Amino acid sequence: MKEYRILPDCEMQEQKEYIEKVRAYNENLVLESGSKRYAFVQTFGCQQNEADSEKIAGMCQAMGYEICHEPALADIIMVNTCAVREHAEKRALSIIGQYKHLKAAKPDMLIGVCGCMVTQEHRKDTIKHSYPYVDFVLGTSSLHRLPQLIFDKMKKGKRLYCPEEKEYLVAEGLPIYRESSYRAWVSIMYGCNNFCTYCIVPYVRGRERSRRPEDIIAEVRDLVEKGYKDITLLGQNVNSYGKDAKGGEIYDFADLLSDIDKIEGDYYIRFMTSHPKDASKKLIDVIASSKHIAHQFHLPMQSGSDKVLKEMNRHYDRAKYLDTVDYMREKIPDITISSDIIVGFPGESEEDFCGTIEMLERVRFDMTYSFIYSPRKDTPAAAMECQIPDDIKGERFNRLLEVQNAIALEKNKPLEGKIIKVLCDGPSKNDESVYSGRTEGNKIVLFDGNESDIGKFVSLKITRAETFALYGEKI
Ligand code: 5AD
Ligand code: SF4
Repeated sequence: MKEYRILPDCEMQEQKEYIEKVRAYNENLVLESGSKRYAFVQTFGCQQNEADSEKIAGMCQAMGYEICHEPALADIIMVNTCAVREHAEKRALSIIGQYKHLKAAKPDMLIGVCGCMVTQEHRKDTIKHSYPYVDFVLGTSSLHRLPQLIFDKMKKGKRLYCPEEKEYLVAEGLPIYRESSYRAWVSIMYGCNNFCTYCIVPYVRGRERSRRPEDIIAEVRDLVEKGYKDITLLGQNVNSYGKDAKGGEIYDFADLLSDIDKIEGDYYIRFMTSHPKDASKKLIDVIASSKHIAHQFHLPMQSGSDKVLKEMNRHYDRAKYLDTVDYMREKIPDITISSDIIVGFPGESEEDFCGTIEMLERVRFDMTYSFIYSPRKDTPAAAMECQIPDDIKGERFNRLLEVQNAIALEKNKPLEGKIIKVLCDGPSKNDESVYSGRTEGNKIVLFDGNESDIGKFVSLKITRAETFALYGEKI
């Protein structure tokens, strides 16, 4: 098995030197042409990818590129891909396909593809053979090598495929370009050891490795001092944080949360994602007695059938899941609970599916993120017999949504008339005439805001509750 280690300062220093070399190169080009150099980073997939993209953009900025949101303007385009479902891969490949025309119009433009999709060998080959205008490819383990890769590409000109690292690394101190000035991601660990049978993540992100508590706490403290209000701690399985420590007493996720909570300020801490097998009472007690940890828990259930959970290699059953939820509600009565559900896992019978519906009705999640099972190459579930036909998967998915939507509406209705604290994000993406924000439980609220509310907590009276959003007015 590959070892893991924190990248030593000397290796980080090497990358910093590449950053400086590319920066000097870009500065020369700016002097010659009189126009700025731009980088565009496109992200697919989960919050971990969003966080990685902020590091990619941070490195690009340090190398002398301005970050832009318009691919046609860019001198470098980085596509950060996802592999968790086939749909995400298809979308990324289609976008990379569209960039061919941009590159034809601007031959000096660099196009790099990184992230989970191209950490799989067969997808590296797809890019190699079918997308010849892509300049370089780097997998998740070598993100910190971006400056070196860009420098080599500029010098040598030929296409580059960064080999995967021999070890799993934790790279500290990469520059970060944060998209928001009040919401932030903080990765606390990387990788996953769980090997759920449907999931590609352990194959593309390696084994669990936790950052040092002092590095995480310093990053959160700095964000709070800069005025960040909503900070999400990220990891594929945050509640196994610290369990990879070699020897000595384990400093676990609950210990980390309780130390972060001591940081003074007006902010929320959230975290995702948690695994039900590791959601301990100690963790729930820490949240219950904390000052800053949002009363919100994302606890992917995936299925409500014990048989399917076993086939998924999830290491909990319905009873254990319900015990955890009941304990959360006992200790934190106003907690918002959300979940991920997979429909149509191989061998899922009508009875198994009804078990999932039954659990939705028993637990009454505030929200769920539901997915149709997508076979992933080389995962055990993809080779299982009894793959479920698409029409049955689709039909079950719709039934699940119908049940969950009714529950979500019933959960939201009692909020009508209540006064709620909301962090304002700005004009709503769907309707610019109203402002949008999120509650402590991460529910969307639309209200009569203005520009000065952006990035601030506002108090709202909820006037109407719908399935996917609440409506409020300022008081
Ligand atoms: N097919 C469908 N959904 C999947 N997920 C992970 N792998 C797959 C797959 N192969 C879902 C799980 C996970 C979420 C991030 O994506 O529900 O919690
Ligand atoms: Fe995938 Fe399971 Fe790990 Fe989550 S816990 S990333 S679903 S293997």
